[in-house]
Amino acid sequence: MKTFYATTPIYYVNDLPHIGHIYSTVVTDVLTRYHRLLGQKTWFLTGTDEHGQKIERAAAAQGTKPIELANRVVLRYRELYRRFGIANDDFIRTTEPRHRRGVEELIRRIEAAGDLYLARHEGWYCASCETFYTEKELVDGKCPIHGEPAAWQSEENVFFRLSKYAGRLLEIYRRQPDFVRPDSRRAEVTSFVEAGLKDLSVSRTNVKWGIPFPGRPGHVVYVWLDALSNYITALGFGSDDDRRYREFWESSEGRRVHIIGKDILRFHAVYWPAFLMSAGVPVPTTVWAHGWWLRDEKKVSKSVGNVVQPDALVAEFGPDALRYFLMREMAFGQDAAFSDQAFLERYNADLANDLGNTVSRVAALCRQAFGSSPPESCDDNEVIPAWERARDSWRTAMDEYAFHRGLEAIWRFLSEINGFVVSREPWKILKEEGRSGRLSRILYASAEGVRLVAALLSPFMPTTSRKICAALGAPVKDVALDDLEWGRLPTGAPLGAAEALFPRVDTAAYFSMEGGRTMSTEKPASPATTPAADADGRISIQEFQRIRLVTGRVLEADRVPRSNKLVRMQVDLGSEKRQVVAGIANRYEPEALVGKNVVIVANLKPAKLMGVESDGMVLAATVGEAGEPSLLEVPADVPPGSAVK
Ligand code: MSP
Repeated sequence: MKTFYATTPIYYVNDLPHIGHIYSTVVTDVLTRYHRLLGQKTWFLTGTDEHGQKIERAAAAQGTKPIELANRVVLRYRELYRRFGIANDDFIRTTEPRHRRGVEELIRRIEAAGDLYLARHEGWYCASCETFYTEKELVDGKCPIHGEPAAWQSEENVFFRLSKYAGRLLEIYRRQPDFVRPDSRRAEVTSFVEAGLKDLSVSRTNVKWGIPFPGRPGHVVYVWLDALSNYITALGFGSDDDRRYREFWESSEGRRVHIIGKDILRFHAVYWPAFLMSAGVPVPTTVWAHGWWLRDEKKVSKSVGNVVQPDALVAEFGPDALRYFLMREMAFGQDAAFSDQAFLERYNADLANDLGNTVSRVAALCRQAFGSSPPESCDDNEVIPAWERARDSWRTAMDEYAFHRGLEAIWRFLSEINGFVVSREPWKILKEEGRSGRLSRILYASAEGVRLVAALLSPFMPTTSRKICAALGAPVKDVALDDLEWGRLPTGAPLGAAEALFPRVDTAAYFSMEGGRTMSTEKPASPATTPAADADGRISIQEFQRIRLVTGRVLEADRVPRSNKLVRMQVDLGSEKRQVVAGIANRYEPEALVGKNVVIVANLKPAKLMGVESDGMVLAATVGEAGEPSLLEVPADVPPGSAVK
């Protein structure tokens, strides 16, 4: 059987995950789900890069140990992946013993090939990139990527004979055109190697936080050699049980794909294959370098201070809306700009309107007419050729990693289904003919079209895809290649619950909220007013004490007009009465709230939600993927206005 192995970069743990990190992971998730759908045996690896100067420094700055910092950030990654529906098979941390064993074995093999030697190394070092630059590469003495001053370093290092591999690398780029994608990146790497390769220093003596270099006391392994090895150590390379390594890495039937951002192309397309060739290990099939998410034309990154936090958007709109936006908005391989405005526009137009309305319209017509999916199938209608075109364009796009075009093909098909429904006017037929055979055939064609939309969407929006299947009475299961055949929708099957997939958002109201409560964007911190949190999100007790939490008793509650989610409450805080608005209407009936003893953030700046003033915020736990609110309740005998500490 063909195997497919896909990896994300392993992320540094000096930083909390942001939209750029989650993007690489979502892409890899979509890609792996697609190959699984094709019937291939897949393996999806992600993880964290925990050694090196960058992490050593970040931990020291926070007065903590590198491993403790790593432990905390890893939890955040795992939690975010869970919320995003990321189906990785493994998560590797470079501090794990299984990784260290594999790195040691790789180095032993490189050493045996005669490719390591000791020499003095001097150069300009950027700790953020963990790489040396030449004088010429620096911009005004600063790192060309991070803009940070580079430091002069001089030490005795172990060197790897990279220069020896220039010819073989050029040969790979020429013979294996898929080795570096997109083509523009292959050209970039080719000219880099053609300009001549210098040997690479692969050990450090001024860094303690790393894997000790085998056979070189006082040296630790250079963090990039350490990190890149994760792609094979996680498969069991160099261990007693290397079956997975042989199956997914060595097999000639298999494909091995690294998804990375363009910032780390050189490491993956030059150094990594050279290390592997030296050790006698096969090179990857493809290194795919995507573009950057930008804000104000700058790469989204913590050091620039323009970080986009995915959490708020996921809590408000669910993981699939953001997965969709990321995959649709960025032409894969190019840069794209992130904005809340663009997100909401796509949400309303593509998801609420095109997708959500089509699904609910077709399911509602079936329910109205038959109480189940339509009884008669029909293999002569214009939805079928439209489907065949859509499936073919989708396959071509997916095979070329042009995910945005894959989604475009699905949306074209959706509009063709809609055109079919509108032109046949089934609501009229229902009135005039009742449950006729003609009506059944029209509705079957429409419902089957929508089921197929769900099948094509499954790698991108797994949760939504299942919800659509349930709504149409189609089996809810992992989509396989067979499911892409016309006519698989069972006739007369019971229909699932009719829930709105993507309730429309009032954009004007969203942007009228003061304080940016639900905005995805973290404003650059102003040191005077907002003490920066540590890299792992920890704050001091003094910062926590700035938040005034008090108990309050709900006196009255009613729904905010025109809103599905918002409830307005009058809350007794002991010495005063406050109006507080909360997004809890889908979980709590207003009447059931009266009398509840809750916790209120009392010193939050007032905000307007759908035009209604909210002076405070009620605390609730958010449960499950959908972030269902569950109010924090205080025992009835605690008087309103009591401080919560
Ligand atoms: N630890 C190294 C990678 C080692 S892989 C063997 C590293 N880590 S990182 O935390 O800085 O994350 C790098 C990856 O995150 C980038 O290559 C890219 O895939 C993704 N992104 C980080 N910021 C990004 C954007 N603003 N836009 C898109 N993706 C970017 O480098």
